[in-house]
Amino acid sequence: METIIKKLDRNEIDMDIVREAGQILGRGGLVAFPTETVYGLGADALNKDAARKIYEAKGRPSDNPLIVHVADLQALDEIIQNPPEALYELAYQFWPGPLTMIFKKTDIVPYETTGGLETVAVRMPEDLIAREVIIAGGGYISAPSANISGRPSPTTAGHVVEDMDGKIEMILDSGAVEIGLESTILDLTVQPPVILRPGAVTREMLLEVLPEVVSDEMRQITPEGTAPKAPGMKYRHYAPKAPLTIIEGTAKEEVKAIRQIAYEQNRYEKKVGIIATSETADKYPIGVVKTIGARENEKMIARNLYAVLRDFDGEDVDYIYSESFSSEGIGSAIMNRLGKAAGHRIVKAQEITDLQKFRRIIFVSGSGNCRALMAAELLKNCDLKQEYETAARGLVVLFPEPANAKAEEIMRQNGQSLDGYETKAFAEDDLDDDTLILTMEEGQKWKIFSEYEQAKHVYTFYEYIDESEEVASAYGLPLEQYEILYKKLKSMIQKLANRLNEEAQN
Ligand code: TXA
Ligand code: MG
Repeated sequence: METIIKKLDRNEIDMDIVREAGQILGRGGLVAFPTETVYGLGADALNKDAARKIYEAKGRPSDNPLIVHVADLQALDEIIQNPPEALYELAYQFWPGPLTMIFKKTDIVPYETTGGLETVAVRMPEDLIAREVIIAGGGYISAPSANISGRPSPTTAGHVVEDMDGKIEMILDSGAVEIGLESTILDLTVQPPVILRPGAVTREMLLEVLPEVVSDEMRQITPEGTAPKAPGMKYRHYAPKAPLTIIEGTAKEEVKAIRQIAYEQNRYEKKVGIIATSETADKYPIGVVKTIGARENEKMIARNLYAVLRDFDGEDVDYIYSESFSSEGIGSAIMNRLGKAAGHRIVKAQEITDLQKFRRIIFVSGSGNCRALMAAELLKNCDLKQEYETAARGLVVLFPEPANAKAEEIMRQNGQSLDGYETKAFAEDDLDDDTLILTMEEGQKWKIFSEYEQAKHVYTFYEYIDESEEVASAYGLPLEQYEILYKKLKSMIQKLANRLNEEAQN
């Protein structure tokens, strides 16, 4: 079938297009349209054949019920029985909007629409195009998310085209949606009401209207292990092609942990995808990094989540790691969807970061322009199991200088380079808990200990690798002495690399 794709502007809705959509729906056809949550795949909710077409187009099991979308409260009279008192207060507060409520259904709602259930889920969307389409289509439009079953819900018309082109009559395109996660589902057929799916209308918001609200996730952890009540929740949920793991900790710990994993996987020639935030995205030197939004802006993260997950399916990555996000407001819905996509694989960042003791290795010499520089550069070129930042410092540096000319010459002769280095004085902020400091001489170590009382992890280089001789300065000596110095440092660095790699194994 040829799918008609039409652009619509919310501020100036072309009613001819809406009428065309209405006619298709009236004939029992399928029209995908935007809502404020995600794009929906619309069909006449009172027409059982239309409902069957939805299941077919989505490849969705037909016992998974659909949400009936309405444009006004009066429409409820025909499709629900014994409306609970709470309905009116909830509708007043949250409709039109991202809240779906479940009631007892009337006979005119076919079982094809409710997946055989006696109850019906109803939502009144806020999106102006959605409302016009519902009215044009007869007032009762069932609309599941317009994705193939098992893929992330579509948040742009492009996503709908990816999944539905050729399978449905029409797609209405109004660009990206506002919220990006499906509506909150609240079951009002039980007391107290139960949240079957978290969304933009949060439990806290519902509690301002209702005296009591239970979330289905809370019920699921009861020992009796009650089955989830929204049948849709029992199906395997969207999982990206590459396994996704959520890393949980403070922002800083998460970055450290994910960097550490990416570095390690990269050594095994595995490609890692990273879901990062705008605050952290530039802290990952390795991996395919996608930014989901700013940490303090949960709404932005919600809006981008599905698009980022879809994007990764187009990338050839072996594993995906995601930072975790705040559970404030819509955050609980974000973490619910992300958790499902990850098959609930959640790892504490600290468990990973604890596996790496040092992240920075600083070599210290007198003027910091020769021995320390050579050592830092040599270590940088070693094959290390873990990622370290290496640096050189001098204890007596009055102004930045380039590397010592003879040191540079010897390094060049050995295929290395000290280009671009500048000397830097050792300073207080070099003393971090995860920094290993190796001095060339004994006296340099004691100088650091005596000047900085917080000094920790400071060793002479030789002592750290169980040798017995300081690395003496070659200053003023002929080039041959620098060659000897180079060879000595090279073998010491190899020993250091071995020790670091051994420690990394544990
Ligand atoms: O935001 C939304 O709700 C979007 C947009 C298009 O409005 N629609 C949507 O529909 O997410 P869908 O079909 O992808 O998800 C509907 C969920 C399913 O998990 C389904 O099992 C549950 O609602 N549901 C529908 N009717 C139900 C009922 N009578 N009892 C329990 N759960 C029901
Ligand atoms: Mg869905």
